[in-house]
Amino acid sequence: MYNVRQIAEDTWYIGVNDNKTHRFENLHPLPEGVTYNSYIILDEKTCLLDTVDWGFTEQFLENLEHLLKDRPLDVVIVNHMEPDHAGALGEVMYRYPNAHYYMTPKAVEFCRNFGFPIDDVPHTEVHEGDTLSLGKHVLTFVEAPMVHWPEVMFTYDTTTKVLFSADAFGTFGLLDGRLFDDELDFEKDFMDHARRYFTNIVGKYGKPTMNALAKAATIEIDMIAPLHGPIWRKNLGTLIEKYKLWATYTPEEKGVLIVYGSMYGHTEEVAYLMASLLVQRGITNVKVYDASKTHVSYIIADAFRLSHWVFTSVTYNMTLYPTVQAVLEDMKMLNLQNRTVAIVENGSWASRAGKLMLDQFNSMRNMHILNPETLSFQSSLDEEKRPELVKLVDQIVESYNSTEL
Ligand code: FEO
Repeated sequence: MYNVRQIAEDTWYIGVNDNKTHRFENLHPLPEGVTYNSYIILDEKTCLLDTVDWGFTEQFLENLEHLLKDRPLDVVIVNHMEPDHAGALGEVMYRYPNAHYYMTPKAVEFCRNFGFPIDDVPHTEVHEGDTLSLGKHVLTFVEAPMVHWPEVMFTYDTTTKVLFSADAFGTFGLLDGRLFDDELDFEKDFMDHARRYFTNIVGKYGKPTMNALAKAATIEIDMIAPLHGPIWRKNLGTLIEKYKLWATYTPEEKGVLIVYGSMYGHTEEVAYLMASLLVQRGITNVKVYDASKTHVSYIIADAFRLSHWVFTSVTYNMTLYPTVQAVLEDMKMLNLQNRTVAIVENGSWASRAGKLMLDQFNSMRNMHILNPETLSFQSSLDEEKRPELVKLVDQIVESYNSTEL
């Protein structure tokens, strides 16, 4: 059964909820689902903007056909070719071969790569600033490469002042009937989803994101319609301010992220001891993660959020504990930078974890290491070593207190 909603003059939401897929990109857990947003403008010409994941084509087509009724589909705009949005595009091309398809040259190339019959349908490659009239609605295309793939563009409806922003301003999470930001408590229900989505999916592309934000700032926007999650029409500034922080790798808050890798609990004890000492010294914004237990995407989100990090790990087979290694590799891949770090290693013999963590942090940008000599203990922390740990906590507190955000 169709499920659509008008969002602006002649403009409708025809997206779907995905509460079935366990992992986004087969990687990031989706405990509270995700949406694939698609839109249609019914003007003199009918215009579809993006499609949905292939698994949700049936619902999507019901929505589309319900609104088209007996009208043809005249225009299809592809803002993003990733299959969570373009999965149903091939089917649309087979069903609507007379529609005219608009996308960037790179997106045309991706259509061919994904095996869609783009060369059998009328299509136009569009560039920055190109316009398209649907009748009353005049659309402008805004290139936004690497937010999150190179072919990405935004489409701006100059008539309704709606910016169709592709992945930008998207979040994980389902829409339970509430579609607009002013119908829900974004801070409570979606901010964590938004942070985990941006930091893990788009986080690597801070500079292109800032470029896209700068372009968007020159446009009068009444509504942002992304490809995932709620539509923005009230508090546009809230997420834009967060985006500026995330895209420049600036911490949102002063606080301490503690990540540990522990085989039998002794390194874990140290992580929680440090957390307790920090709280007793007045730092209550502390988050502790077992790298073996929590999916790395959650750790990445809090790493973007917080100003200080503590990493403590056992040495494993003469190298770094694999789950801690995975977190650090992900941080590096995402270009994470500008943080203050303390390092604690454990090794029952031939300790190596400290040096390997230090090497990783030194290969990232603007990382301030509080203890380059690293704190090392063997098997378990004893009374003799405890003062060193307390001293390191003092260093963290001193750095925290002198940090201005
Ligand atoms: Fe939501 Fe980059 O796809």
